[in-house]
Amino acid sequence: MIHYTSSDIHQMDKIFRLNLINSCTGFKSANLLGTKSIDGMPNVAVFSSVTHLGSNPPLIGFILRPTTVPRDTFKNIKETGVFTVNHIHSEIIADAHHTSAKYPTEISEFSQTSLDEEYLDNFYAPFVKDAKIRLGCRFLNQYEIKENDTLLLVSEIEHVYIADHDIQQADGWLKLQNAATVTINGLDGYAKTTLLERFNYARPRNK
Ligand SMILES: Cc1cc2nc3c(=O)[nH]c(=O)nc-3n(C[C@H](O)[C@H](O)[C@H](O)COP(=O)(O)O)c2cc1C
Repeated sequence: MIHYTSSDIHQMDKIFRLNLINSCTGFKSANLLGTKSIDGMPNVAVFSSVTHLGSNPPLIGFILRPTTVPRDTFKNIKETGVFTVNHIHSEIIADAHHTSAKYPTEISEFSQTSLDEEYLDNFYAPFVKDAKIRLGCRFLNQYEIKENDTLLLVSEIEHVYIADHDIQQADGWLKLQNAATVTINGLDGYAKTTLLERFNYARPRNK
């Protein structure tokens, strides 16, 4: 068995630690966040920290890395109040990953990949055209995580778009496998998923 202690982790080679700590908490969600600056420059970037916060109101959160370097996604969200969340599916993983490259603000990642913008129902932020599950979200609040200078951004889901009827079941649940939604392993691994089982609401067993 491999065992790392706190002191091992602190002394680790930077890249080795980054890979270990990014993958040791399990699979993460795989999304492209679409934004557009107030003067019209679109932006798209991969994020693995988008998570459910609550369903009523429908809230999501994601973690933003320290703003010590320019963060176009954050700047655009603060300027316009809106962004889109687009599930990454198996056909677009290479382009999706490439959106993490540090392009200057005046270059849109849409222009450097085969990902296309799509505008729906007058929502200001661009959706990713090919994505099968897409959300239009409005920024509500940000919370500083002092321990590592990151921010938790809390937002409300205003629009949900589902490309095909076979993705959603009669009770509302989305079968992500049918949308080919992938999951992220660490910082650079993308994996397919297969549903094993769906269970009834768990209740204590009668003894
Ligand atoms: C797999 C993967 C997941 C990422 N997840 C996040 C994340 O959750 N939060 C974040 O701030 N950056 C994350 N990034 C980094 C952003 O994609 C990267 O900083 C990107 O350049 C941001 O683009 P922007 O400056 O246009 O906002 C991730 C990168 C990769 C490759």
